[in-house]
Formats: sequence, structure tokens, C-alpha cells
Amino acid sequence: MAGFFVVFEGGDGVGKTTQIDRLADALRGGGSDVVVTREPGGTDLGRELRQAIMHGGHVAPRAEALLYAADRAHHIATKVRPALERGAVVVQDRYMDSSIVYQGGARGLGDEVERISLWATEGLLPDLTVLLDMEPAAGRMDRELDRVERETGEHKSLIREAFVARASLAPERYVVVDAAQTIDEVAADVRAAVSAALEAAGMPGLPVDGLGVEPWGTP
Ligand code: TYD
Repeated sequence: MAGFFVVFEGGDGVGKTTQIDRLADALRGGGSDVVVTREPGGTDLGRELRQAIMHGGHVAPRAEALLYAADRAHHIATKVRPALERGAVVVQDRYMDSSIVYQGGARGLGDEVERISLWATEGLLPDLTVLLDMEPAAGRMDRELDRVERETGEHKSLIREAFVARASLAPERYVVVDAAQTIDEVAADVRAAVSAALEAAGMPGLPVDGLGVEPWGTP
């Protein structure tokens, strides 16, 4: 496919939104056609499914997994694939690793969750997944537990380990970034990794233009 698909993953409160905005600005500054999107809720139907997932009462675990998969199927078919086909860079907040980690792991539904997502998306994998990784203690500990945490009792450190394990299965398609650094440092690491991956895919990389700290550091 002509475009480039980059996904951000990580636990809650690692700063995905800020970093997605920073990367999108850098890509647009470099002249790319950029589509920023998210799961769940990247389409009109997806926003309804997101409401159903987030704000209903109890949702049976298999129903919850299928709602995420339904959101994903529609989102990829109607928004992401068309953007990639016209050559855009798609920057997406969460994708199937979130289902594998939260529904497959925390909900105990196992490997079937991955197969459902692969079926839902006709096998579309990201060109690069940026895993924003940090010790749960450094995240937003002041807020209430979210619903998955409350209902499963799953500890954030297990979620973190599950994401890192995903990345280690296919290191050529992942970059694990230390999200405990400053926002500028994280942004610089992300930009360097995305730039290298774009160039490896035969697309123009990103200018290193002093938007933040250089990845290799200056004294
Ligand atoms: P998100 O909108 O990214 O919120 P946050 O800013 O808290 O990261 O995701 C909302 C929640 O949905 C988050 O707790 C992870 C969960 N989620 C799943 O459990 N499975 C999935 O497949 C996806 C995409 C998200």
C-alpha cells in the first residue's frame, strides 16, 4: 500500500495524545498528507460503539471484545485503508495490540482476540508501532481506576509487561520509547524512529529541525 501506518500503543496516561499531536505537526511541517485517528471511535459508527463500550453498565467480555473489533473493522475499511491507498501517513491512537493486551490478557480471552482483529482488518498490520513505555508509578496515579482495571483487578504493571512482550515478538515493526523522559525528549525519539521507518519504506523522512531535543543529545 502506498501510505504509511503508524500506531501508538501503551498503558493509560503515558502521554499518547500529546505525542501523536507532536508527530502529526512534524509530519505536516514536512509536507505529508497526515490523518490522525483513534480506536475506539475513529468513525461516526465507531463513536456510537465507543459510547456503548465506555458508558454502558456491565458488558460481557466477549461482547466487549467484539465491539472493539466491530469498531476496528469499520474504521480500517472506511477510513484507514482509503487514506493509505491515497498515500497518506495515518497516525493512530491504539490498534489491535490494545485488544490483545486488554481483552486477550486482562479479560483472559487469549489468542482468539488476535485472530478476531486480524479477520476484522483483513490482516492490516502497522508499518510501525510506537510503544510509549513507562513505570506505572510515573503515570497518572491520582485518577480513579478505569473500568477494565476495576473489573479485572489487573495491575498496570501487567498491562505494561504485556505491551513490551508484544513489541519483543516483532522488534522490526516496533519502537519502544521511554515515556518517562520530558515531552520534548519523547517527541524527539518518536520523530527519529518514524523518520527512519519512513525512509526504510521509501518515503521522505522528517527534517530534524530543532523542534525539540536531538535524539543523540547535545552537551
Ligand atoms: P483511549 O481512548 O485510548 O483512552 P486513554 O486516553 O485512557 O488511553 O482508550 C480507552 C480505553 O479503551 C483504554 O483503557 C484501553 C481500552 N481499549 C481496549 O480495552 N481494547 C481495545 O481494543 C482498545 C482500542 C482500547
